[in-house]
Amino acid sequence: MNKYKLLTIASIAAIVPMVLLISSINGKAREREEINRGPVVKESGVESRNDAWARAYPRQYDSWKKTSKSDKIEDLLEKKPQLAVIWAGYGFAKDYNSPRGHFYALQSNQNTLRTGAPVDSASGPMPTPCWTCKSPDVPRVMDKVGELEFFTGKWAKYGDEMANSIGCADCHDSKTADLKITRPHLVRALKETGMDVDNATHQQMRSLVCAQCHVEYYFKKTAWTDEQGNEKTAAVVTLPWAQGTTAEEMESYYDAIDFKDWTHKISKTPMLKAQHPGYEIAQTGIHARRGVACADCHMPYKQEGAVKFTDHHIQSPLENIAGSCLQCHRESEADLVAVVKAKLDRKEQLMEIAMDNLAKAHLEAGKAWELGATEAEMKEILKDIRHGQWRWDYSIASHGSFFHAPEETLRLLATANEKAQTARLKLVKVLAGYGAVDYVAPDFSTKEKAQAIAGVNFEALVEEKVKFKNTLLKEWEKAALEKGILSPATRKGMSDKTSYN
Ligand code: HEC
Ligand code: HEC
Ligand code: HEC
Ligand code: HEC
Repeated sequence: MNKYKLLTIASIAAIVPMVLLISSINGKAREREEINRGPVVKESGVESRNDAWARAYPRQYDSWKKTSKSDKIEDLLEKKPQLAVIWAGYGFAKDYNSPRGHFYALQSNQNTLRTGAPVDSASGPMPTPCWTCKSPDVPRVMDKVGELEFFTGKWAKYGDEMANSIGCADCHDSKTADLKITRPHLVRALKETGMDVDNATHQQMRSLVCAQCHVEYYFKKTAWTDEQGNEKTAAVVTLPWAQGTTAEEMESYYDAIDFKDWTHKISKTPMLKAQHPGYEIAQTGIHARRGVACADCHMPYKQEGAVKFTDHHIQSPLENIAGSCLQCHRESEADLVAVVKAKLDRKEQLMEIAMDNLAKAHLEAGKAWELGATEAEMKEILKDIRHGQWRWDYSIASHGSFFHAPEETLRLLATANEKAQTARLKLVKVLAGYGAVDYVAPDFSTKEKAQAIAGVNFEALVEEKVKFKNTLLKEWEKAALEKGILSPATRKGMSDKTSYN
């Protein structure tokens, strides 16, 4: 037998078991699909009531409902008071908590002091796009009225239409139950990066459904004319991905269009607020680069008797290490927990330093203005603060980045720090020029002190909010029940926790 024949036989011998393995994996996937294939939930349009899916898909529904277990409020302004200073003049200085389960997304949005206390459907302060990532009623209403109309008007306009928290119709087609991108902003943004959603692989879809919400975005003012000829302005959710998805690429995008989310109340800096670029930063990490999807860790498969299905209890994967990490890793649970903890500690250390420097930079800039500093003296300093705070925010706002992309998170925190310190060095010089060489920023070590510095009137905000909850919010619920878009069964066992009472 010559060398080539031997090689051919050897490679066939190697390929056959691989093909068998793949076909067995495919076979299992088909089997799972068949077993889980239910009747059509809704022939046309969007079924936003989660419990309407329960009969066809009881396992997915029951596990989804377990996201209600994560209802604890962790007040981050209490834990990191610097936040109130660095967000002075912006909603986040009023109220900011760590994330809870998807079951609570809608309630968190209604309860936060950031959405204020509207008194009717036309009053603010927030616009309609603030609902975009909270409810499967969003694709339902968009389907009915069109995207531009959806993004026109005040938040309260759709108070009585938003009845169900994040659920089935956010990620699935109501007729086929296939995974589906229901938010047009993601489809457009992916196109800008050269990807056609229709050609996304199944594995990519297992992350892209999350990228509908766990991404950076801004509201793009868009003029349009409705069918009756009325001229309107929509605030269209837009992902700033045209130049790329890294912090520097988005920063350059925002700078090029002179965009600011708000003007900082103390330093007068034109600020950017990173939302939660979790999908983007995760792409730089080893798991995403090896093709591991969000769902591999946050929605692992689960066996129940003979049936295998996707566990819809989205939570910290550390609550289910055996089902997630240990599908691929061989370390002990304790080792994996320790590795994750070490990554968290490293991030916390650098994050704390960056936040302190940013808060002090804002306060020192405020002092410089007070003493008569000129626009020309302040221009470069404010640019450093803008860029430093953006990088800090981009790196940590999505909460999981310390694990998803540890190197990128630490790199950005280091550059955030460098920018903040550069601003502070320049400020020493400016302050010295106005005779305030010894200026020391006031104490912001508690939430109360920091909010006082930021000019937040917490008691007044709470009072208005409680009134809203007892009046308009109750009317919304009643109207939603009457319209038949809300089933009380879905909300059974729902707690009502807030940071303020
Ligand atoms: C429709 C928007 C939307 C989609 C789609 C979405 N999320 Fe979320 N997610 C949110 C919001 C909003 C919160 C915060 C809810 C709150 O605090 O009340 C959240 C919270 C979370 C949390 C924190 C849960 C907890 O108990 O602390 C995790 C983890 C998470 N999401 C992962 C995912 C993954 C993985 C996917 C994709 C399989 C996904 N999300 C899809 C909007 C979404
Ligand atoms: C945040 C996005 C998200 C939400 C919300 C969601 N799913 Fe899923 N669902 C997924 C993902 C991801 C998969 C895995 C798909 C795959 O790999 O085949 C999945 C799989 C499924 C499957 C296929 C069978 C299986 O278990 O793998 C069904 C059926 C299903 N989901 C039903 C539901 C129902 C019913 C709800 C509401 C109670 C729901 N889903 C809510 C993302 C979601
Ligand atoms: C390799 C596993 C893995 C993958 C893949 C993964 N995550 Fe995570 N995720 C984690 C771990 C571990 C944590 C930290 C949990 C903790 O601190 O308890 C986390 C944290 C989070 C959090 C913060 C939860 C909280 O309450 O603070 C969110 C949100 C999140 N992930 C969303 C996503 C999204 C969206 C994707 C896909 C782009 C994704 N994750 C991919 C393992 C993973
Ligand atoms: C679907 C498979 C898969 C799952 C699930 C998974 N990993 Fe990984 N993990 C990988 C792969 C692949 C690598 C990269 C190995 C390499 O290329 O060296 C990796 C690398 C790592 C690393 C080393 C890189 C780093 O960032 O330090 C750690 C730590 C890790 N995983 C922890 C976890 C934890 C914790 C979980 C569960 C929350 C988890 N993994 C879930 C496949 C997985």
